[in-house]
Amino acid sequence: MLTIALPKGRIAEQTLEKFEKVFNEKFLFENRKLILKKAGFTFLNVRNQDVPTYVMHGAADLGVVGLDVLEEKEYDLVKLLDLKIGQCKVAIGLKAGEQIDWNRSIITVATKHEKIAKRFFESKAMAVNIVKLYGSIELAPLVGLSDCIVDIVETGETMRQNGLVVGDTIMDSSVHLISNKNSYYNHKTEILSLRESLAST
Ligand code: PRP
Repeated sequence: MLTIALPKGRIAEQTLEKFEKVFNEKFLFENRKLILKKAGFTFLNVRNQDVPTYVMHGAADLGVVGLDVLEEKEYDLVKLLDLKIGQCKVAIGLKAGEQIDWNRSIITVATKHEKIAKRFFESKAMAVNIVKLYGSIELAPLVGLSDCIVDIVETGETMRQNGLVVGDTIMDSSVHLISNKNSYYNHKTEILSLRESLAST
């Protein structure tokens, strides 16, 4: 039986909808339960950022997670399929009217994507002082906590509503089906057949 870690919330619902179409059955986490067993699969309802951890340690064979989260973890996992949901980008956000001075030697960046932000600015030969936040990142430059932010942009509305403008895109992201290498090689037929079914729904 394959175990699949799903990120709580909208992505979990959209992923389970895909499974409903494939297996023609109702897939739903009920009564705040975190484990769902259905049609020969075990689904785990976990935090977004924890999905790669469950998969990497083999607690789940497969996971469903945004590319941004995967890049941030830097684990060596197999990317099986782009599920074409949760499309967004990781981008720089600045106070309207401000620009990044690329000649500066150091910049203070507020973000939950520490590694992605660090890699990006270091590739521009700029040292980074990271201020790690867990949400409402857009506040940071407004109250002088950072020079800019690195955050998820979907519609751009949150930045706009808070007087920020979207700067350079660092990466595009969407939700992917992932696997650890052990599970992939041990259950290859089953995993590839599931991948095919999900790809065609
Ligand atoms: C994410 C992200 C932005 C917002 C972007 O936050 O951090 O704040 O969505 O979406 P938009 O471009 O469509 O406005 P999320 O809702 O995940 O909450 P968070 O602030 O707790 O991270």
